[in-house]
Amino acid sequence: MNLFDVYPLNDITIVKAKGSYVWDDKGEQYLDLYGGHAVISIGHTHPHWVKRIEEQLEKIAFYSNSIKIPLQTELATKLGQVFGKQDYQLFLCNSGAEANENALKLASFHTGRKKVIAFSKSFHGRTSLAVSVTDNKNYIAPVNETENVVFLPFNDEDALTAYFNDHGNEIAAVIVEGIQGVGGINVAEDGFLKAIRANCTEHGAVYIADSVQCGYGRSGKFFSHDFAGVSADIYSMAKGMGNGFPVAGIIVAPHIKPKHFQLGTTFGGNHLACAAALAVLEIIEEEKLMGNAVMVGKYLKDELEGIKALKNLRGRGLMLGFDVPENLKDLRKNLLWEQKIFTGEAKPSVIRLLPSLALKRRDAEQFIDSLKEEIEKIQSA
Ligand SMILES: Cc1ncc(COP(=O)(O)O)c(C=O)c1O
Repeated sequence: MNLFDVYPLNDITIVKAKGSYVWDDKGEQYLDLYGGHAVISIGHTHPHWVKRIEEQLEKIAFYSNSIKIPLQTELATKLGQVFGKQDYQLFLCNSGAEANENALKLASFHTGRKKVIAFSKSFHGRTSLAVSVTDNKNYIAPVNETENVVFLPFNDEDALTAYFNDHGNEIAAVIVEGIQGVGGINVAEDGFLKAIRANCTEHGAVYIADSVQCGYGRSGKFFSHDFAGVSADIYSMAKGMGNGFPVAGIIVAPHIKPKHFQLGTTFGGNHLACAAALAVLEIIEEEKLMGNAVMVGKYLKDELEGIKALKNLRGRGLMLGFDVPENLKDLRKNLLWEQKIFTGEAKPSVIRLLPSLALKRRDAEQFIDSLKEEIEKIQSA
């Protein structure tokens, strides 16, 4: 049987990983500024994470959500501590799309309404509702097309308020990324997030903060929405939550009450997933990784700012992006093949940096040196 060919692949097979480094099957070492697509939060194969999972595996890996799983309560308590909101409620699932799917569904149950506001260049996942609020026609199958979603311009407070003034009592939810990832690292302005909060409060809609990529400390705060000083009604999270172990969830404000069987999952919140997620939070706290994201992120931003060939540097913490001009279009490819550095991309010409939050300053320096070298090589060719 062949694999169903849905991704263009780099001809590289990674077989080993440690911290911010990965190795291929030929023993070649790569610096990972991509974090396996923003997933690696505490560093590849962190010893505490490995130990926590191994120890759990020896006890029990999985049992159904029909019994008590104290690790889920432990995780909820720890999340409340790190996030700072103990009165919120945790629902666990398995992926970012599923988290958003549940967030949107819950918002509709809660309000009894159908309409959702999403924004230009958004990406919220590939399942039915999640893809319906994603601004990319190529991902939306005919069956996912719906009249219930309206796309408004990102960071446009006036358009948002005008739409609420006309349709306020129909709107179940607004879903927004604190920093758009797939859309090209576009930071939601504080005023825009405040306007979302104010309009949702005034019209009884649910504010969903998609924090799947920009959350879990990546921006330097636990959720990048925190920069605006507002609280969302639901936060969705995934990628960094398990450091590569598939685990995701939504955090729900206390005024949204649970009802049995409205949401559910077979695998979500299983013993192993909780052990992995707890290990991640323990290391984020113990190794002060949000502080590291601020510090190393600032170093990278300052250095990148000084590289005149790169345009429109943007982002927060260790979620950074910049435009690569046409004459440097091979830059990302050359970083990978010449310098052995993985970076992310956003179409058509953005390089995205999404490394582990434990990225060391010396690794960031190596990246900057390599980047300058590759730019010079292209420019002098
Ligand atoms: C902001 C955002 N939301 C949702 C998703 C979907 O997550 P998953 O691929 O885990 O379903 C992604 C994935 O890239 C994302 O970046």
